[in-house]
Amino acid sequence: MSSILDTFAFAKRIPATPSIGSTTVTKPDHIHLSFGFAAPDLFPIELLSQSAADAVTLYGRKALQYSGSGGPGKVLHWIQQRSLVHGIQADSNQILVTYGSTQGIDLATRILVDPGDHVWVESPSFFSALQAFRTAEAHITSFPIDGDGVRVDLIEEALLEAKRNNRPIPKLFYTMPTYHNPGGVTLSLERRKRLAHLAETYNFFILEDDAYSELNFTGDRYPALYTLIPQRVIYLNTFSKIIGPGLRLGWVIADSRVIEKMRLLNLGGSIGVFTQEILAELLQRLPFQEHIDRLIAHYRRQRDVLAAALRASFGDHVTFHLPEGGFYIWLTFRKDVNTSAFVQAAADLGVSFVDGKSFFVNPEGYHHARLCFSYVNEEQLVRGVQHMADAYFDYIGRTVS
Ligand SMILES: Cc1ncc(COP(=O)(O)O)c(C=O)c1O
Repeated sequence: MSSILDTFAFAKRIPATPSIGSTTVTKPDHIHLSFGFAAPDLFPIELLSQSAADAVTLYGRKALQYSGSGGPGKVLHWIQQRSLVHGIQADSNQILVTYGSTQGIDLATRILVDPGDHVWVESPSFFSALQAFRTAEAHITSFPIDGDGVRVDLIEEALLEAKRNNRPIPKLFYTMPTYHNPGGVTLSLERRKRLAHLAETYNFFILEDDAYSELNFTGDRYPALYTLIPQRVIYLNTFSKIIGPGLRLGWVIADSRVIEKMRLLNLGGSIGVFTQEILAELLQRLPFQEHIDRLIAHYRRQRDVLAAALRASFGDHVTFHLPEGGFYIWLTFRKDVNTSAFVQAAADLGVSFVDGKSFFVNPEGYHHARLCFSYVNEEQLVRGVQHMADAYFDYIGRTVS
């Protein structure tokens, strides 16, 4: 249908297509292996309902008002305390509560990147971050990952090369060092140290997206990049994977001057004041470590079920790194396979997955796919993989020799 808006010129920097994560779930009987959703049965619903009722009664009259840019302090204080468990020390003026960590990505991009500036990322990378960098009209360059995370040696070579040829150094390098989305891999300690050293030497920021680090299946811990070089890292985390994404609350930890700049862009004052009061009440009642341990046990089991189903249904047609945490298994097929070519056939059979190309800056990654093991139940994981394998074997029977 034509509309008067057809001839209206919207701002050029608005993305032409939505970020893939914003796609809506439409069919209730579908098995969704595509989206990084938390397990709904593990939401602390009862505690949340008591917390919400008490927060409204106790703090509603204040929390429903406008709040200054400082906002209520309880969630911020909780973040400060929990960060210490992970070796991250931050004053309150170094923390900003955000509308999910996605807003942290957006704010970091907006305070650092002018059109034409260079942003370096991993390949594959998180699609919403790529969208933020594209919207900022950045030049995006990507660096491959392997089983130990991003190839820091290639980043070092590229920096040397840029310096030698008087070419631009990136303003920021965006990374998910722990339980990468979609790669499932974790950056080794040695590479972490090297990357921190490069950020210092070449004077760029690392945007460290740490959304999954609490969901650690092995007990092995890696230091956040922030702990290695705090002044050069903008650290992002979120309540989405540990409480629930519908809260839309996350946080940034960075140098106070970085946080100050971000506050200048937060035009509506502090974020989710009312929701923060509810969350603060919840965090006071919730035995947090027990809650996390329950999530870990659940997601680890789900990972194992998905991994076993993949081996049973695909045999040696796929390889993958078994993730030590997080939500995802990243599949690698033979080079001549194009997962986009059977994503619709799989959907027609009742399962969704994300085809590889969605995670790359350039046209590549066709022989990969991302599966998420967090959202559906065990039986659905197995059935979903069978449907996907049916679609795949039908596709290769017809097209790949
Ligand atoms: C790496 C990464 N960062 C950020 C997010 C989004 O987090 P939030 O809900 O806090 O915006 C996700 C969600 O899938 C993610 O995988």
